Amino acid sequence: MHEKAFDKLRDKNEKALLGGGEDRIKSQHKKGKLTARERIELLLDKGSFEEIGKFVTHRSHEFGLEKQKFLGDGVVTGYGKINGRLVYVFSQDFTVFGGSLSETHAEKICKIMDLAMKNGAPVIGLNDSGGARIQEGVVSLGGYADIFYRNTIASGVIPQISAIMGPCAGGAVYSPAITDFVHMVENTSYMFVTGPNVVKTVTHEDVTLEELGGASTHAAKSGVTQFTAPNEVAILEQIRQLLSYMPQNCEEDAPVYAFEGDLGVKIPELNTIIPENPNQPYDIKEVIELVVDQGSFMEVHKDFAENIVVGFARLGGRSLGIIANQPASLAGVLDINSSRKGARFVRFCDSFNIPLLVFEDVPGFLPGTDQEWNGIISNGAKLLYAFCEATVPRVTVITRKAYGGAYDVMNSKHIGADMNYAWPMAEIAVMGAKGAAEIIFRNEIQEAEDSQAKLDEKVAEYTHKFANPYRAAARGFVDEVIMPEDTRAKLIRAFEMTQNKAEKLPRKKHGNIPL
Ligand code: HXC
Repeated sequence: MHEKAFDKLRDKNEKALLGGGEDRIKSQHKKGKLTARERIELLLDKGSFEEIGKFVTHRSHEFGLEKQKFLGDGVVTGYGKINGRLVYVFSQDFTVFGGSLSETHAEKICKIMDLAMKNGAPVIGLNDSGGARIQEGVVSLGGYADIFYRNTIASGVIPQISAIMGPCAGGAVYSPAITDFVHMVENTSYMFVTGPNVVKTVTHEDVTLEELGGASTHAAKSGVTQFTAPNEVAILEQIRQLLSYMPQNCEEDAPVYAFEGDLGVKIPELNTIIPENPNQPYDIKEVIELVVDQGSFMEVHKDFAENIVVGFARLGGRSLGIIANQPASLAGVLDINSSRKGARFVRFCDSFNIPLLVFEDVPGFLPGTDQEWNGIISNGAKLLYAFCEATVPRVTVITRKAYGGAYDVMNSKHIGADMNYAWPMAEIAVMGAKGAAEIIFRNEIQEAEDSQAKLDEKVAEYTHKFANPYRAAARGFVDEVIMPEDTRAKLIRAFEMTQNKAEKLPRKKHGNIPL
């Protein structure tokens, strides 16, 4: 009974699994790449994937396409679980027309995005696509725009994560660019608006695929990608880990992990981490690793603007977003790229109710024509704006320097931080002692018999007065000066205290961040 109908279904299911056929699957493997379905298997909890739209085919009749139909039309879409939590996923199938985006391919992606929005769960896109399906013309462009629109409307409502797992050209790069995080596989993935051939024709530049749009380029130069890994398996594992810090949507809180251990423990190593000489660098990541739950720090944007460190971690089992100046790179100065990097991360965390922890050791903003002409003013303002606007619990620890405008910007009390701590060696002032003395005592120094001695005296005077945390503490700009070893315990309590924070911004359509 019904055997024929059942056979037909079995047959179609089997065919759909083959995508563009065995030869193309072999060629995909030969390039060191997995297929769309293999990627989904690795990404999701075992056996949790439910496919949607397996038998969709394109509707094109141009250029002989009507004779080439593949079930699924170049993208595998559906839902499943990661660490037991619902996610939606689309995975482009390079074996079908190079994963290029047709009208129906776009419709499939839009369908799962709409479901994700209605049901409040993240969308993960595994991208491997030659861009718009050239044979379909404007219909394909329309499909892209439908996706971009949904990416934008979903931004800040549900987390959106993109992995780039092959060549992504043209329209294939703009959807990932709107999503929250981009992951790229080293040596087998590329992102560019136009490829090396077009570049050669237009600008006469000779550039390789890797130089133009490889993972290392976008990780270190453009900042387009936040994560890279040497292979696809590592990328998929990275995505699973990343999701563990986030809630399912903007109405929820991130999951709390069980934490067993002494929440009030002292960490004596923190007392000796800052060098005697205030101009000597140290690695702020060591401070972070010592303070947060062991092994919980996941750095974001590691290779871009290394003078600021951002990433997720847990403290007593609860998710945090960390933003930290890095004295080991450019003395931790704020410049255009570090401001952009910090601002984007702050906004992600604030969108998704992830509290912010700031470690501050900043000598100021980077001076110079390069910075000024490229807009350090409006770019620095992005970070300022992002902090000012953030309503999540916010705590700052000033480990050493907090100078000038950077003091204000780095989550000061004045712009809404809930608790600010300083270590005893903190220096909080308008500028460094030498620069300050040279300006305010210029005449006295010039007129002195021994100018150098006078300068030294004035530097010592300014240092004594301002290179400490007590002026700020006297004003209440710093809530408490703490021993470094107590930092973890203090932070756990501060974040517990602010756990139910409910701050609302005035009603508005949306703010106008200096983009
Ligand atoms: C239709 C495509 C395609 C496309 C690739 N294919 N891209 N089919 N539309 N955009 C097909 C190929 O014909 C081939 O089919 C198969 O996919 C594999 O492609 P290969 O070229 O053999 O693979 P490879 O050598 O790995 O090169 C991959 C590639 C290259 C770098 C992606 O195919 C390429 O440059 N494609 C065109 C990229 C592009 O210009 N896209 C349009 C961008 S414009 P067979 O049958 O031989 O297996 C755009 C506008 C949107 O996207 C803008 C919105 C803002």
